[in-house]
Amino acid sequence: MTKLNILITGGAGFIGSHLVDALVGRGHRVRILDAVVPQVHAAGEPQYLNPEAEFIRGDVCDAALIEKAIEGVDVVYHEAAEVGVGQSMYEIQRYVRANNLGTAALLEAVIKRRAQIRKLIVASSMSIYGEGAYRNADGEVVYPAIRPASQLAERRWELICPRTGSALTPTGTSEEKPLFPTSVYAVTKQDQEQFCLVVGRAYGIPAVALRYFNVYGPRQALSNPYTGVCAIFSSRLLNDQSPVIFEDGGQTRDFVHVSDIVQANLLALETDRADYQAVNVGTGKPTSVKQVMRMLAEGLGKQIEPEIVGKYREGDIRHCVADITRARTLLGYEPKVSLEQGIPELLEWVKRQEASDKVARATAELESFRLVK
Ligand SMILES: NC(=O)c1ccc[n+]([C@@H]2O[C@H](COP(=O)([O-])OP(=O)(O)OC[C@H]3O[C@@H](n4cnc5c(N)ncnc54)[C@H](O)[C@@H]3O)[C@@H](O)[C@H]2O)c1
Repeated sequence: MTKLNILITGGAGFIGSHLVDALVGRGHRVRILDAVVPQVHAAGEPQYLNPEAEFIRGDVCDAALIEKAIEGVDVVYHEAAEVGVGQSMYEIQRYVRANNLGTAALLEAVIKRRAQIRKLIVASSMSIYGEGAYRNADGEVVYPAIRPASQLAERRWELICPRTGSALTPTGTSEEKPLFPTSVYAVTKQDQEQFCLVVGRAYGIPAVALRYFNVYGPRQALSNPYTGVCAIFSSRLLNDQSPVIFEDGGQTRDFVHVSDIVQANLLALETDRADYQAVNVGTGKPTSVKQVMRMLAEGLGKQIEPEIVGKYREGDIRHCVADITRARTLLGYEPKVSLEQGIPELLEWVKRQEASDKVARATAELESFRLVK
């Protein structure tokens, strides 16, 4: 493949930095634009930053800086975002500013250089689906809304078929599922995705939105108590504290290793089959929150039981696992790393970090806004 000039916003972050390494490794010229947000990067610029990538420290909302960052660029990966579901429910301006206005500023610069930009790939998120897809007793695929507060108040966690009263069975969530974001963060991710696809289609700039499921792996920020459950549980365990599990721990997610996310991003660059589309990136395999906590505790050699609080967080969903048919068909994507293989690598990283556990403070914040019930 020809050597390209590639801009990666958020390239100092967990996923972005792995993408930087992969692209540099393929001989591309990579430029990073990242604000090094203190909540994510407690120690400042991360040591893992690839020395062969050019680094511009700054905000995606800064139009003048974007002009500089996008100079001579052929491909844009937009990974920068404020990432935190619970926090987005009270720091709303912060999320809308970075995620919506940041994307808007980036797109205005992309439009000006539309003749030069040959691909725009944006990090979207499974959070935009809300609840995943289910099957009813007749085997039909249904898309329930989130569970009503009255049901959750009775601590009945599974989704119920309104017709028969029996539990619905979770099934793979495809891109056809109507979007139902249940947090401000998720709304901003939907906006980021749609802004890029709409602008891409209008100007003929091939745009792809990759809907990442629950990503884990080395470099995941442990200092940020608002993000991924693997990092949150690991930092609790390292501090010899019980991970706090909401509901009963039976909720399932699709945990996808960061190298598989990178794989999908590289494929989206190489093929035009996914242009102007949104594509799920996961493994297609459900794992319960309790299971993943056990795997992490075992891996760290800790005999710690989770604290299952039986409470729920506003907007939380029960099950969401990717249907990856579209990624397989259009991108030729195939997840390569199982959770069993990926967790030891995550834990090697976790053990080398100073995990200052800020989870209790983050949960107290949610409680003060009555977002935990
Ligand atoms: N980690 C996941 O499980 C997951 C799942 C779905 C989608 N995503 C999306 O993937 C992308 C990367 O997430 P991540 O997990 O690597 O998070 P991260 O927090 O590690 O990385 C995000 C990076 O963006 C930077 N950033 C934030 N606001 C910025 C701004 N205004 N200007 C410039 N840089 C800014 C941060 O400093 C950070 O380095 C995000 O868009 C996120 O929404 C992540």
